Amino acid sequence: MSSGTNTPQKPGSATPSTGADASANSLGARVIAITSGKGGVGKTFVSANLAAALARRGHRVLVLDADLGLANLDVVLNLHPKVTLHDVFTGKATLEQAIVKAPGGFSVLLAGSGMVEYSRLTPEVREEFLGVVRRIMPLYDVVLLDTGAGISDVVLFSVSLASEVLLVATPEPTSLTDAYAAIKVLATQQQRGHVRVVVNQTARAGDGRAIVGQLQQVVDRFVTGATGRSVRLLHLGDIPADPSVREAVMRRQLMVLQTPGCPASLAIAQLAGKVDEAIIAPPR
Ligand SMILES: Nc1ncnc2c1ncn2[C@@H]1O[C@H](COP(=O)(O)OP(=O)(O)O)[C@@H](O)[C@H]1O
Ligand SMILES: [Mg+2]
Repeated sequence: MSSGTNTPQKPGSATPSTGADASANSLGARVIAITSGKGGVGKTFVSANLAAALARRGHRVLVLDADLGLANLDVVLNLHPKVTLHDVFTGKATLEQAIVKAPGGFSVLLAGSGMVEYSRLTPEVREEFLGVVRRIMPLYDVVLLDTGAGISDVVLFSVSLASEVLLVATPEPTSLTDAYAAIKVLATQQQRGHVRVVVNQTARAGDGRAIVGQLQQVVDRFVTGATGRSVRLLHLGDIPADPSVREAVMRRQLMVLQTPGCPASLAIAQLAGKVDEAIIAPPR
């Protein structure tokens, strides 16, 4: 469910923001959407590496490539799937056939390229998407949705399937403006009580904290959610700008496996600890 309050809702209830999470309240994965206002800020990088770090902590993790139109999780992980989400959507393959093991000890459901037809939110796309998330939930502890950027209806729909939103932003002013726009929509359309923020590509320690503080001030002034209260931004952590990130992408290897001691890998490990503590461990 999308609200900060954990009101259980019946599976199949009409509003999309009830999501899939509600349906498996006690028997399934925590569904976490990794999203952003602006593109290219590091969602796929965070999704893949956080998944590996959470798997290392003993969780059963699946990453769903939910950036349907611009999917590239397969590229980052150097996987060449024969069966993709597209085949599941069209009934050509079963869900089990489309789930692939990634290096790093987690599973992935890849969209592959050529899913452009899904960049529009039709009732079919909605139904297929929701069905897939519901079916994978009982099989994992954590499902990460590597969503697209921005506030298009497809992106917002995929985010609505998650109980927790992890918004990735960089310190760039353009990223922050777009992050603000995304937070505003999440607060007003999805009645999110809180949004967790990861500041990626920071230059100095403490940058992220200051940035989230500034964003919160703007949000407090201009955004009031459906509950009449402002949405709370919870700073989950920072990841420093680190050349190892690009090097890993160029080699098509997972950074946390290739350079586990680099600053960005250490930050990812810390982030996984926070996700565990704040999202996975608390009883629901
Ligand atoms: N912490 C970081 N330090 C250095 N470069 C980064 C960092 N995070 C992301 N990048 C660069 O940004 C690129 C885009 O990241 P990606 O995860 O594909 O973004 P998104 O999924 O949000 O579009 C990466 O390929 C990498 O080169
Ligand atoms: Mg991406």
